[in-house]
Amino acid sequence: MMKIKCATGKAHGKIILMGEHAVVYGEPSIALPFPAVDMVATICEKEGPLTVDCSYYNGIASEMPEVLESLRTAILTALDALQKKSDNLSITIESSIPAERGMGSSAAVSVALTRALFRYFDAELTDERLLTLVNIAEKIAHGNPSGLDAAMTSGDDPLYFIKGKPFEKFPLNISACMIVGDTGITGQTREAVASIAQKLKGEQKDLYLNAIKTLGRLTGQAKCAIEENNPALLGKLMNEAHAELTFLDVSSKKLDQLVTAARSANALGAKLTGGGRGGCMIALAATQAEAKKVEQALQQAGAVRTWIYQMGGKKDAK
Ligand code: MEV
Repeated sequence: MMKIKCATGKAHGKIILMGEHAVVYGEPSIALPFPAVDMVATICEKEGPLTVDCSYYNGIASEMPEVLESLRTAILTALDALQKKSDNLSITIESSIPAERGMGSSAAVSVALTRALFRYFDAELTDERLLTLVNIAEKIAHGNPSGLDAAMTSGDDPLYFIKGKPFEKFPLNISACMIVGDTGITGQTREAVASIAQKLKGEQKDLYLNAIKTLGRLTGQAKCAIEENNPALLGKLMNEAHAELTFLDVSSKKLDQLVTAARSANALGAKLTGGGRGGCMIALAATQAEAKKVEQALQQAGAVRTWIYQMGGKKDAK
């Protein structure tokens, strides 16, 4: 039997700990790769025109126009760079990253596809080129991306990330667990980013600019809290960041309900993560046992999926 030529490319999810939205305006952010959810693109040769099969999470995402647009853009951007045509290819996308939930699914689909297509055509792909291509696709999908999602879904290290600056690896050596809760509601990052851009041009622009600056300052303080292994302080800063993001109108009723449920279950802090307006929230707990209680509270408050992520610290928390 003749062997069919195939190649695969992978990417994982991402979580923004601090600094979403403000990062678009040059403020710092802290984010981490989230390999608990991932994406695999497989390219195989076949007769005839391109076919794309996406069995995204529960098959739901493949019906969403935004997701199809991200996919289309990612395929065309990579093929254009390779100077190849889409004929005689079949593409299969398998993903456990829930789409449009602030976990980086649109960047991840682009990372996985670009890696698979370059591998399929035996072309060299440096990290720099990968990021350039993914950010072209992200610009079309998200309007004005900071580049954070591309960096996080393709890289293996948590970063202290400032737009346009060299990446700074930032190990999250803090004795704490992060709990992630999915509202089950899609949030359009593009719209959320655009609405803040509008606010920054409006009558109350100084107030909104102040919120962006405050988010940047909170991220700087969060960096120190992590370096000092102080989860209680990090939790407090997360609460303050959620208040600023709420002021910028990128939270939602369901996100606020989950954040409140986490805090009522003694989380050290809780906030939305990613673009907001739906999607996911994160909470911080000092121990695995505390994290389990927070997770249960989130499930009771209606989170459709939850994850517990052990952060890197080994020392006792302050
Ligand atoms: C989206 O995951 C993160 C945002 O800060 C947008 C961006 O950084 O491009 C909201």
